[in-house]
Amino acid sequence: MTVLEVLQSTTGYFQKRNIDSPRLNAEHLLAHVLGRKRIDLYLEFERRLSELELTPLRELVRRRGAGEPLQHLLGTVEFCGRVFRCDKRALVPRPETEQLVELLISRFTSEIANSRMVDVGTGSGVIALTLAAEFPTAEVVGTDISEDALMLARENAERLGLADRVQLLRSNLLENVQPGFDLVVANLPYVSTEDRQKLSREVLHDPEVALFAGARGDELVRQLIAQAPSWLKPGGTLALEIGIGQSEALILALAEKNYCDICDERDYSGVIRFLFARYG
Ligand SMILES: C[S@@+](CC[C@H](N)C(=O)[O-])C[C@H]1O[C@@H](n2cnc3c(N)ncnc32)[C@H](O)[C@@H]1O
Repeated sequence: MTVLEVLQSTTGYFQKRNIDSPRLNAEHLLAHVLGRKRIDLYLEFERRLSELELTPLRELVRRRGAGEPLQHLLGTVEFCGRVFRCDKRALVPRPETEQLVELLISRFTSEIANSRMVDVGTGSGVIALTLAAEFPTAEVVGTDISEDALMLARENAERLGLADRVQLLRSNLLENVQPGFDLVVANLPYVSTEDRQKLSREVLHDPEVALFAGARGDELVRQLIAQAPSWLKPGGTLALEIGIGQSEALILALAEKNYCDICDERDYSGVIRFLFARYG
């Protein structure tokens, strides 16, 4: 079979298996197996593929068709222009979280450039490591309750040459961290256990501890809202990614705890997804 024929048949197979963006998935997997950039496939449409190339591709296509996330099969994910290792030890980073980091970079640049910041529930480390890379003089801490996630975050820190700059430690929220932060940022689990059956096959490959927070979904975010004032410097910022429909109650929770300058932001699909507030 030629490159083009393989792409067409794989796309058809993914369509039948209800995989989103079937052609894109086919191109990513074939490029991965051939060790090429996706764009290069277009220059090789007529090339015949050997059995040596087709065998590993068939296995990846089977797994993708069964709902394994593309990023797990590729072993990497791009986040804010950097490549991170990605596997089942931590959540597959989402585009919404890239937007959170972009908002922080654009809105808080002057304040966080030389500051001390912590990413609570760091997972693969994408938020902490991106902030550390963008703000070379900032002191950055990442915490997670999952030792698996921390191992992955440490591998990513090494790969990006940031291991000396970012402290990654096991902690229930902020418990094991020295207070005194200008910025506390978190994309904590925010799915309610009741919504489990609404999740796609792909999402269920993420670790449970990265998805579910309790019966309401916002329990961990609320705990952090209550805890963060003792860890923030006066005037420090709390930045949160939250779930659909959670903003109203969480804005109230922030107001009840005497945060000020509370504001929300929508993600690219129009959902109120981010909350920012200051304390003190
Ligand atoms: C939604 S994932 C986000 C991962 C990463 N920050 C990202 O945006 O891709 C939530 C992370 O919070 C961690 N987590 C869950 N409960 C926690 C807790 N009580 N304290 C610290 N981290 C926790 C999970 O292990 C997981 O890595």
